[in-house]
Amino acid sequence: MEKLDEVLVRAKQDLSCVNNKEGLGSFYQNYLGKNGKVTELMKQMKDIPNEEKKSFGMAINNLKQELQSLMNEKEKEFAKKKIQDRIDNTKFVDLTIPSNKKRGSLHPITILQEKLIDIFLSMGFTVEDGQEIETEYNNFEAVNIPKNHPARDMQDTFYLDNGQVLKTHTSAAQNRIMKKYGAPLKAIFPGRCFRNEELDASHENTFFQIEGMMIDKDVSVANLIYFMKEMLTNVFGKQINVRLRPGFFPFVEPGFELDISCPYCDGKGCRVCKHSGWIELCPCGMIHPNVLKMGGIDPEQYQGFAFGLGFSRLAMMDFDITEIRLLNSGNIKALSQAKIK
Ligand code: DAH
Repeated sequence: MEKLDEVLVRAKQDLSCVNNKEGLGSFYQNYLGKNGKVTELMKQMKDIPNEEKKSFGMAINNLKQELQSLMNEKEKEFAKKKIQDRIDNTKFVDLTIPSNKKRGSLHPITILQEKLIDIFLSMGFTVEDGQEIETEYNNFEAVNIPKNHPARDMQDTFYLDNGQVLKTHTSAAQNRIMKKYGAPLKAIFPGRCFRNEELDASHENTFFQIEGMMIDKDVSVANLIYFMKEMLTNVFGKQINVRLRPGFFPFVEPGFELDISCPYCDGKGCRVCKHSGWIELCPCGMIHPNVLKMGGIDPEQYQGFAFGLGFSRLAMMDFDITEIRLLNSGNIKALSQAKIK
């Protein structure tokens, strides 16, 4: 019995030095494990006179229970300490303190995108999603840019190891959308595009476009002009004139560059339009028969127009932003200076 008391005293001393889980494990082995001190004592049971066996047994059980509960307490202590450590090492933000910071707002690109989507929805277009990682086929072949076509050089492309590409233009979704809906079709598809550009004040490697397609019987350039004028008049909140100049894109025939009458000086000539009264805005054209065919649409029956509006540029005009890199910078101070008209 004295031995039991001794073991308890030793155990308490040992336990007071334990300060982690591993220590607790070895403590258990030393006392309650297969060759632990308490287990050894139990083995001595056979040498105890019969009349004392009962009380010895009970004492040993008590000792075991006592050690077990001491260990449990230690374990709880560790768990508590772990939480306390985390609390001590975490910087808490008090969400109830009123902020002296400016409220956040939507990004200029998002604001413009939503505005454009609303306008096109009101004109009966659907809004489609494009993918940022595209097959080479969809990005090039399906829009009439076969392998080795020089037009591929116009778009310095990020190729992935698996042969796919980061889409260089929203036109990459044309084929999928034609196959999905067939003709007639009126859709826009905004999205992020990527090109390996040298960065400067007006070039970015990541930029936003919004592609539009209208395919139906008897669609002509007149429809293209009408929809573009309507859209731009809505964006700028005043009458905007457009003019078309010839432009080459393999997926349209004829292809155009669409200019808008300068919204800043109403075409009179100013710094922004370099005194010409016009600003180059958006390439467009009548969808090439090959493109319709690859999309499963019969070019004998249907025609259509398409446009690819780089709306980083439109956003810069709409918000008076002079640096294209600002749009991707996440620089709240600079972005919040963008004037929302
Ligand atoms: N995908 C062209 C580009 O990013 C832009 C474009 C031009 C789109 C003419 C069109 C179009 O739909 O008709 O360079």
